[in-house]
Amino acid sequence: TEFGPFGPLVGSIDEGTSSARFIIFKANSSEVVASHQKELSKNFPREGWVEQDPNAILEVVVTCIQKAVEKLVSLGGNPKDIIAIGVTNQRETTIVWDVITGKPLHNAIVWLDMRTSSTIDKLLDTVPNKTRNQNYLKPLCGLPLSPYFSAVKLRWLSDNVDAVKNAMKAGTCCFGTVDTWIIWNLTGGPNGGKHVTDVSNASRTMLMNIETLEWDPLLLKFFEVPKSVLPEIRSSSEVYGYIAEGPVKGVPISGCLGDQQAALVGQMCLQKGQAKATYGTGCFVLYNTGDIRVNSSRGLLTTVAFQLGKDNPPFYALEGSVAIAGAALGWLKENIELLDNVKDSQEIAANATDSGSVVFVPAFSGLYAPYWRQDARGVICGISEDTNSNNIVKAALEAVCYQVRDILDAMNEDCGIPLQMLKVDGGMTFNDLVMQMQADLVGINVIRAGFTESTALGAALVAYWGVEGHTQHAPIETGAGMTFMPQISDDERDMRYKQWKMAVERSLGWEH
Ligand code: G3P
Repeated sequence: TEFGPFGPLVGSIDEGTSSARFIIFKANSSEVVASHQKELSKNFPREGWVEQDPNAILEVVVTCIQKAVEKLVSLGGNPKDIIAIGVTNQRETTIVWDVITGKPLHNAIVWLDMRTSSTIDKLLDTVPNKTRNQNYLKPLCGLPLSPYFSAVKLRWLSDNVDAVKNAMKAGTCCFGTVDTWIIWNLTGGPNGGKHVTDVSNASRTMLMNIETLEWDPLLLKFFEVPKSVLPEIRSSSEVYGYIAEGPVKGVPISGCLGDQQAALVGQMCLQKGQAKATYGTGCFVLYNTGDIRVNSSRGLLTTVAFQLGKDNPPFYALEGSVAIAGAALGWLKENIELLDNVKDSQEIAANATDSGSVVFVPAFSGLYAPYWRQDARGVICGISEDTNSNNIVKAALEAVCYQVRDILDAMNEDCGIPLQMLKVDGGMTFNDLVMQMQADLVGINVIRAGFTESTALGAALVAYWGVEGHTQHAPIETGAGMTFMPQISDDERDMRYKQWKMAVERSLGWEH
């Protein structure tokens, strides 16, 4: 085939919690030819509830595709040169729709949503021997019982929403995480759309058996989920279907990964022992454990990293999930109006006096790893007469770094081999001050990727391999990064971390 000036291209749909983008890469490369990004809003209908409109998610994705393709054309490129498209997404967010009309039966329940705390309480009562053991299902699915995961959200929908109950009875209900919703719609929706997901996304539902990579009958029974609503589980890199209409009509969708797993691939952590942290709405550290499912004793999740083609074995990861990272800055801007622009945080924090020891625990959605406490809520401790808004902004940034320290300590214990360095990517990593704080607070080198859209890149790579085959996955060039080295003493690091731990203690038990 003859290709235009840029050679073969691969498109990547990256649908995150706060924004979506479509990036057109040169095939098997981190070189971006054209891209478009659009913000996405969240609704908070009640305290602790976080929703998004599934149609708005779809519209944002479609707009990004259209606009990026327009840019490609204006640069002299041809959309026909796009040989594959990958999908990566905010994980766990739960959508249900009617297979005949294609209409959502409820708003998407976003991963951060806490409405299912009481559902969790009820489910814990059903754990045998009255142990209320949060980790009861962990041997099967790798995850603790928490409002975070999709099965609990789906159970809430079937318990509380008549339209969902009825559609389930009538056999017309489809469930999906965001990848599934996007792929179903882009491959035709009610007219032949493919109802599929990949192993990495399925591993976040609490319904997939982490060993067999199939929907598990015991888990389905526990959550009372009928198998008929579930998508087919496929590998992360194979052709699922073809785009049904629009400027990229006919292009195969041939890669799919949860966004954190996609960042692992985009950071080239394809081998056992490699790890990365992505700083977005939340912050997620994934450690590639190869073919081994490490069972954490420290509150980390066992999850599927990726499966590159249906005939290849899966890779697993140990994950430390932090719910609130960039979201704390969004909150300071929107709710407290301490910031006009999230990007100002670097300068503001740089101006903060060092006198105070203000610690901010942004436990808005409870605390995830390693604590898993849905009863935690945010606290700001250590306020004195000198404290001003600069200190609060700085504390919000430090909170992200402390939470990553929590996770790395847990990982080091679980794996036995301490991490020597941390590869980082995502929006907040542009903030040099945060990256320096991160190196200081964890005491190891922090290496910022040369190309920081690792998530989109990961999805583009698996999509490319999904059409070109899986004979080799040679690392690709992503440009020189930047290394931040720890600059404070061990004593200071330990003293500050102790204050964080004290503040965490105070955040626990606020909500029941
Ligand atoms: O598990 C939730 C995660 O996938 C969300 O990622 O980048 O939107 O914070 P992000």
